Amino acid sequence: MDDITGRQDIDASFKLRPSDLDHEFKIAPLAWHLGNLKAAARRRLPRGIFDFIEGGSYDEDTLRANTADLSALRLRQRVLATTPSRNQHTTILGQRASMPVALAPIGFTGVIYPRGEIHAAKAAQAFGVPYSLSTLSTCSIEEVAAAVPAPFFFQFYIFRDRAVNAALLQRAEQAGCSALMVTVDTAVHPRRNRDLDNGMTVPLKIRPRNIMRILMRPRWLAGWLRHRPTLANLAMFVPGGTDLGTVSLWAERNYKGAVGVADFEWVRRNWPRKLVVKGVLDPEDARLAIKLGADAIVVSNHGGRQLDGANTTARAFPAIGDAVGDDAELLFDSGVRSGLDVLKVLGLGAKGCLLGRPFVYGLAAHGEAGVTAALRLVAQDLDQGMALTGVDDVNNLPPGLVIEPTRA
Ligand SMILES: Cc1cc2nc3c(=O)[nH]c(=O)nc-3n(C[C@H](O)[C@H](O)[C@H](O)COP(=O)(O)O)c2cc1C
Repeated sequence: MDDITGRQDIDASFKLRPSDLDHEFKIAPLAWHLGNLKAAARRRLPRGIFDFIEGGSYDEDTLRANTADLSALRLRQRVLATTPSRNQHTTILGQRASMPVALAPIGFTGVIYPRGEIHAAKAAQAFGVPYSLSTLSTCSIEEVAAAVPAPFFFQFYIFRDRAVNAALLQRAEQAGCSALMVTVDTAVHPRRNRDLDNGMTVPLKIRPRNIMRILMRPRWLAGWLRHRPTLANLAMFVPGGTDLGTVSLWAERNYKGAVGVADFEWVRRNWPRKLVVKGVLDPEDARLAIKLGADAIVVSNHGGRQLDGANTTARAFPAIGDAVGDDAELLFDSGVRSGLDVLKVLGLGAKGCLLGRPFVYGLAAHGEAGVTAALRLVAQDLDQGMALTGVDDVNNLPPGLVIEPTRA
């Protein structure tokens, strides 16, 4: 079916095959569980790149709390109400999705795996889940649109120059992006201790230790040398060089920082399709975003990479759900590590969630096949969780599925 953009919708015929879900876990040998993908990513990537993915800001308190607070939620087991068939199909931001999951926007994906955005977008499309492309991607909006027929979401960072912003929005619209996701929790670039230790700064600090670590990862190095990634959406705006270092420096210097009401109103006037605000943790911000025209909100602390000490999404979500009601679609982001987590966030009232690091581990380890492996694991876990909680449809949850955390 065609969607509003006129582009082909995600393959609606995608179905989890019984072999994807049965007890034999036929996804071996790539991964029996997410830990395998993470270990493989660690083996393939230089230390600085792995830490860039894995790390958070400052002491990483919020990063750790994200997963801990989701783990602490309890699911209501219902064994006598199990149904033989279970449906994971739903919609996310108007796109059909084979499970209530979309891939989160990840900047510099092509540094992690050569042309990583295209590998991830292809895996997402084949699996039937939406893909979000970061402004800071190494494959351009046009390259991803040419490689993947399904519409994707474009994550938008606002720059100081309105002409740059206008050009990016126009390109995203022309490429058929079905939703614009404006990230609002990056007013500043907080200290990330691991990146500083590893010299992963703009510009990069080349130290003998870093060079040794790169030489110890020849497969990654060969991919880098073959593809020489840059920030492909932005290179055209940068005078004096298109290499990653120059373009990253330009992006840092020209980035707008805090998103104000006037910026948001400008974006709303200039983007005709679904508008999503990513990075809200407070009911008042959620209400304001809706007042300014947001169709959906991603409740998120940026995977623990921004304000260390910020609330976790698991704790923040219920109050935002109460404040928003049916006025906007709510998506959960930060800390989702399994299909059981997906079930929990649905139980908190989310329409679906964004998956960040888990798919990145798969990508880093095995490219497109690794992303597919990560998605399969999530779908398997979700199905098993549904079986043991008596949930037959992700769109119709029984009351009290999740025992709520203390509201903070
Ligand atoms: C390596 C990396 C790069 C990221 N780049 C972006 C980005 O360019 N834009 C954005 O809005 N969020 C970015 N994020 C945040 C993710 O979109 C998402 O909010 C976060 O990963 C969710 O947490 P999780 O990894 O625990 O699932 C990035 C996250 C990581 C790990």
